[in-house]
Parts: sequence; structure tokens; C-alpha cells
Amino acid sequence: MAAIGYFIAKYTQKSQAELAKAAETSSEALGGIRTIYSFVAESSLVQKHLKLLMVASGTNMKKAHLSALTVGGLFFFMFCIYALTWWYGGKLIREGVMPVGDLLTVFMNIIWGIMGFGLIAQILPDIMKAKGAAAGIFALLDRVPEINTNEGIGLTLPHIDGKVTFQNVTFAYPTRSDTKVLRKLNLVINKGQTVALVGPSGSGKSTVIQLLERFYDPLRGTVMIDDIDIKDFDLKWFRRNVGLVSQEPTLFTGTISENILFGNPDATIEEVEQAAKLANAYDFIMQQPNGFNTLVGEKGTQLSGGQKQRIAIARAVLKNPKILLLDEATSALDTESERLVQNALDNLMQGRTTIIIAHRLSTIRNANVICVMMNGKIVEQGTHDQLLELNGVYTSLAAKQLTDIESKIIKKERKMQASISKMKASVSQLRHSSVSQTQEHSRSDLKNSQALI
Ligand SMILES: Nc1ncnc2c1ncn2[C@@H]1O[C@H](COP(=O)(O)OP(=O)(O)OP(=O)(O)O)[C@@H](O)[C@H]1O
Ligand SMILES: [Mg+2]
Repeated sequence: MAAIGYFIAKYTQKSQAELAKAAETSSEALGGIRTIYSFVAESSLVQKHLKLLMVASGTNMKKAHLSALTVGGLFFFMFCIYALTWWYGGKLIREGVMPVGDLLTVFMNIIWGIMGFGLIAQILPDIMKAKGAAAGIFALLDRVPEINTNEGIGLTLPHIDGKVTFQNVTFAYPTRSDTKVLRKLNLVINKGQTVALVGPSGSGKSTVIQLLERFYDPLRGTVMIDDIDIKDFDLKWFRRNVGLVSQEPTLFTGTISENILFGNPDATIEEVEQAAKLANAYDFIMQQPNGFNTLVGEKGTQLSGGQKQRIAIARAVLKNPKILLLDEATSALDTESERLVQNALDNLMQGRTTIIIAHRLSTIRNANVICVMMNGKIVEQGTHDQLLELNGVYTSLAAKQLTDIESKIIKKERKMQASISKMKASVSQLRHSSVSQTQEHSRSDLKNSQALI
């Protein structure tokens, strides 16, 4: 019985994990329903979901068989005892060892005993199922997170200067522990400096920011603020001093002003409006049907990518952090909006330590230091001009981007040259015709004067 109970609990846990997987697929599919429609992937996702449900159903069937076996087995046992009682009691009565009354007393006691046992038998599978289900909850409650997010634990400072140091930082994501994303990364950003990270996709730029936000701890090495390991700080206090505009800004269901207020829930509506103006978001917000009270939809789906980015920037502006992290913060904006938002960000960066990540080099060319990352390491470091002189990775990145601009300039130059040569041709034609006219005139004048003489 104990063995069966053990297996029922085990299958309950297993089927719960399988059902959770199926639920994850369906909720993910509902979240990305537009992508699914656009790829006409409805049926393949339904099949995937069904497959996962079939796996869970298989495990549930095994569990149901075991439950049935438990109940069946217990009733079998009960009826065997009845039979035994009647048989043995009858034998004792026949032999005159026991009076009929005693047999009935014994039998009634056995019935009451077995009825209690039968009740247990009916709920035993449920007890085992509950045990299996509770195991997951207890495992979650017992889990000790590696990064303690509780407030009041760790150091707080009256003031942060904003010096950032990465010292020999090596890191791999927990889900891919064998792939090193950062390899002995060293970086020092002095207070108030703007440092840009550039480099190919996947080189580890966003990871640097994730470590600085302490979403993860490095495997080896230290991340420090003002020469103190960020592990020593009270995490919530520390994060209040860091503002992040991420590569894929997340908005929450609610109004635009609620989303901006995320940066500072105590801010006044005037401050929210001021932040929106700084982020070049004010005009588009006022064009919305309900202005700042317009609903943004689930994850901000009712806004464009650029509008979401501007709200995320306004949120960061309102937070007024000492360290500002901009991960492709203006990538979804057109050149004109980017220029305006960049001006706002330039103002925002004054007096703060800023790490800015951008693929468009025009966005970061004025940074105090530009670091070029490749395979989790900084391979080049310096100002825009210094890096161009190095003639290395940065130069080739710049060359690729300049080629586009240059080709546009060259096209314009060619057009201009063509129109200039056309103009030249028409001018020379005009000159030629006027010269020949003058010559004719002078010839006729000469003839006239000769005739007069
Ligand atoms: N949560 C994660 N779990 C596992 N691996 C991850 C995770 N996030 C990123 N990676 C991997 O880490 C590497 C670096 O990713 P990262 O996002 O830092 O690159 P990036 O330089 O910011 O690229 P991009 O310019 O495309 O934004 C990539 O190879 C990526 O696949
Ligand atoms: Mg990135």
C-alpha cells in the first residue's frame, strides 16, 4: 500500500509539471497571437499543445489505475475479512465453542472497524495526490534565492557618486552554464562619465547591464559601485539609484500616466508631464483620445514601438537615478524623433554615470569613452576619433554605417554633377548662339560701314 501511495504522489507531481508546460505553451501562444496569425501557425501550435496534453493525460491514466487498484484492493481485503469471519465463526458455532450471540458481537465489531478502514481507503488516493501537489508548493517555499531581494538587508549609503567598476567579471547564464557570456571583463567608469558599449549582436552588451542591475551575480570577479561590491548593498535601495531603459521596454496594463509613474509613484502630475516633455512624448500623448489617461493595453500593445520607448524614457526621467542604463533606448525612433530624444537624454545624462548601448554609432559618438565588445570582452576602448585611428573593429563598424551615408551623398553629388553639366551645356549653347549672333551683327555692321565709305 505504501508503495502504491508513493507512486500516486510521484505521478501527481509529474502530471502537474506536464500540465504546467502545456499551460505555458497556451498562454505564450495567446500572448503572441498576432505573430501566430501572421505565420499561419495556428494548427501547428494546437498540435504542440495537444501533444503536451496527451503526455499529461498518459501520466494521469497511470495515476488513475493506481488509485483504482488501491480502492479495489482495499475493498477486496474488506470482503475477504467478512468471508473469513463468517466461515470461522460458523465453524466455532458448529463445534459448540461459541454461541451465536458472540459471533454477532464479533461480526458487528469487525464491520464497524472495516467501515472506518473503507473510508480511509476511499480518501487514501486523494491524500497521496494532495501530498504530491503540496510537494511543489513546499519546494517553492523552501527555495532560498541566490540574490536576496528583501529590504533592510545590506548596506545603504547617504549618497552615491556613481563610479562603476567591473573587475575580472566572468559570467554565464544559469540556463547555459557552459557558455561564458562575459570573460574576465574589466571596465572602469568614473562618476558622471558616459560610456558607450558597441559591438556585434550577442557580444554581451545587455548582459553587462543585467549584471549592473544585479539580476544575476557574476560567476567570478566583482561588480562595484563607488568601489563597494554591489552584493553588499541593500538590493532595493541600490536599484532605486539605477534607471534602466531596456532594449524591449515593458509597459503594463493601465494608463500612460500610471506607466510613467512607475518611475516614481510619489511624483505629481506636473512632474509626469515634464518627464513626458523631456522624453519628447508629450505631443503624441496629448493626441491620444484620453491624453495621459489613455490605456496602453496589455504590455503596451496599443502603442507603437517608438511611443513605448518614449514612455520608458519618461519613466526613467521621473526616477531621476544616479546611474542611467540605456540599452538601445532610441532604436525604434525615426531619425528626427531620435535627435529630439537624444537631446533630452543628453540633458538627462548630465551629472550621472551613464552606460549607453547603441548599434547606430551616430548616437554614441560623443560619449566620453566608447568600448567595443566582442565575445564577452572589451577589445577596443577610447573616444570616437581615437578608435577610428586604431583602424580596428570600431573602424570597420563605422565604415559599414558610413558607407550607407556616403553612398547617399555620392548619389546626390552625381545628381548635382549631372545637373551642373546640363547647365554648363545650355550656358555654352547660349554663349555660342549669342557669339554667332554678335559676329553676324558685326559683319553686317562692317558691310554697312564699308558701303557708307
Ligand atoms: N536569459 C538568457 N539565458 C541564456 N542565455 C542568454 C540569455 N540572455 C542572453 N543570452 C545569451 O548571451 C549572449 C549575450 O547576449 P546579450 O543580450 O548580452 O547580447 P547583446 O550584445 O546585447 O546583443 P544585441 O546587440 O543583439 O542586443 C547571447 O549569446 C545570448 O544568446
Ligand atoms: Mg542587447
